[in-house]
Amino acid sequence: MNALNPDFFAFVYLIATILFILGLKGLASPRTALRGNLFAMIGMTIAVIATVSHPDVTHYTWILAGLAAGALIGTVVALKIEMTSMPELVAALHSFVGLSAVLVAAGTYYDHMQTGHMDTLLLYELAAGSFIGAVTFTGSIVAWGKLKGTFSGNPLVFKGQHLLNLLLSLAMIGCAAAFIMDYTNFAAFLIMTAIAFALGVMLVVPIGGADMPVVVSMLNSYSGWAAAATGFTLNNNLLITTGALVGSSGAILSYIMCKAMNRGFFSVILGGFGGEATVAAAAQPGKGVKSAATEDVAFMLENSSKVIIVPGYGMAVAQAQHATKELYETLTEKGVSVKFAIHPVAGRMPGHMNVLLAESEIPYDSVFEMDEINAEFSTCDVALIVGANDVVNPDAKTNKASPLYGMPILEAYKAKQVFVNKRSMKAGYAGVDNALFYYPNCSLVFGDAKGVIEQLVNQVKGTGH
Ligand code: TAP
Repeated sequence: MNALNPDFFAFVYLIATILFILGLKGLASPRTALRGNLFAMIGMTIAVIATVSHPDVTHYTWILAGLAAGALIGTVVALKIEMTSMPELVAALHSFVGLSAVLVAAGTYYDHMQTGHMDTLLLYELAAGSFIGAVTFTGSIVAWGKLKGTFSGNPLVFKGQHLLNLLLSLAMIGCAAAFIMDYTNFAAFLIMTAIAFALGVMLVVPIGGADMPVVVSMLNSYSGWAAAATGFTLNNNLLITTGALVGSSGAILSYIMCKAMNRGFFSVILGGFGGEATVAAAAQPGKGVKSAATEDVAFMLENSSKVIIVPGYGMAVAQAQHATKELYETLTEKGVSVKFAIHPVAGRMPGHMNVLLAESEIPYDSVFEMDEINAEFSTCDVALIVGANDVVNPDAKTNKASPLYGMPILEAYKAKQVFVNKRSMKAGYAGVDNALFYYPNCSLVFGDAKGVIEQLVNQVKGTGH
C-alpha cells in the first residue's frame, strides 16, 4: 500500500473515524472525557495530515497560511474565553462551519465550470451544502448575538411569521430546483443561498433566551450536516462520516436538553412554534423569606450526617468551585457524608457543573446526576444550594402557571433544612420567582458564593472568619 494509493487514504480515514467515535463515547462521562478529547485530537491530527498529503493537493501556501492564522486565533480565543461565555463561542464557531460550506459549494461550482464537467448528483450536493451552510451561518450569528447580549434575548414574534418562513422555504426549494435543472443558471444558486441566509435569521429570532442552549446545540447539528454535504461535494469520506457524527450527536443532545428544560423539541427547531416567552417575575420578599448567617449554616453543616450540595450558574460566576471543594474536604474529614447533585441544565451549557467540579478535582464518585440523587434529598440533613435557582424551583412541579412547569427539578425542598446561597432576591435565568425561598425549611444566605463558601470553610474548621 503506497502513500498515493486511494486505499491508503480510505484506511487512514477509517482510523480517524474510529478515533472520533471513541472520542464521542469518551465525552459521555466526565471520568472518560479527557481520554475522549485525546482520541478526537489524535483523530483530527491524522485526518489533517492525510488530507494535506493527498496527491490532489498541489501547493501549500494557502493551506499553511490558513492553518497558521486559525491556530493563532484559536489559541488566543481559547486562552482568553471565560467559562461563562462558552455557549456564545460555540455558536460563533458553528457560523464558520456554515460559511465554509457555502464557500466550498461556490468554489466547487466555479472549478467544475472551468473543466466543463458537471453531473446532476453534484448539483444536488452543491445546493444542499450551500443551503444548510447558509442557514447555519446566519442562525449561528443571531444565536451568538443573543447570547452575548449584542441583540435582544427576547423572542421576536410577529403575525404571519410561520407563513413567511414557509414561503421563504418554498422559494428556496424552487431556486434550488431551477439551478439543478440548468446548472448555468448561477443566479438561481445565488438567490437560493440569499434566501437561506434570511431563513437562518428568521428561524432563530423568534426563539427566546431560555431556549437558546437548545438552539446552539441544534445549530451544532446543522453544522455537522453542512460538513457532511461538503464531504459529498469534495468526495471526502472522512468529512461525510465526521459531519454525520456531529449532525446526529447534536440532534440527540438537543432532544435531551429539550426534555430536561421541558421544551417541545419541534417547537424549538421549527423556530419558536408554540414556544413560550418567559416573563420576568418580581421576587416577593414580603412573603416571608428567612435569611441565615454563615455561622448558623456552618454549625448545621458540621453537625449533619448527610449534606447534598447543589451547584448552579452562580457558582460558575463566582468561580467558587475551589472553595466548594475545600468545604467538601473539610466536612468529609469531620465525618459528614457530602454529595453533589447535578441538574442536566444547571449553568449555561451542557455539563457546565461537571466541568467546574472536575476542574476543582472533586471526586467523581461524589457527583450524582438528577435521577440518581433525587430520592436522597428526603434523607439528608442539609441541602446547600450554591448559586442555583431555576433547577430547584418547586413551582416546576406544582404551579401550572409557571413557565418552568413540567421541567424536572432537583428536589432539594425535601431536605430537612435547605440553605440557598445567592447575592439578592433576583430571579434566575427563566426570570421567575422561586417558591423554594418561602418554604419553612429554607433560609437564604446572601453574598457572593466564593466569599460565603470560604467563610463556611473557615467556620467549620473553627478558625473563625
Ligand atoms: P439560574 O436559575 O440562572 O440561577 C443562578 C442564580 O445564581 C441566580 O439566581 C443568581 O442570583 C445567582 N448568582 C449569580 N451570581 C452569583 C454569585 N456570584 N454568587 C452567588 N450567587 C450568584 O441557574 P441554575 O439554577 O443553574 O439554572 C440554569 C438555568 O439556565 C435554567 O433556567 C436553564 O434552563 C438555563 N440555561 C441552561 C443552559 C444549560 S445547557 N445548562 C444554558 C442556558 C440556559 P443573584 O443574582 O441574586 O445572586
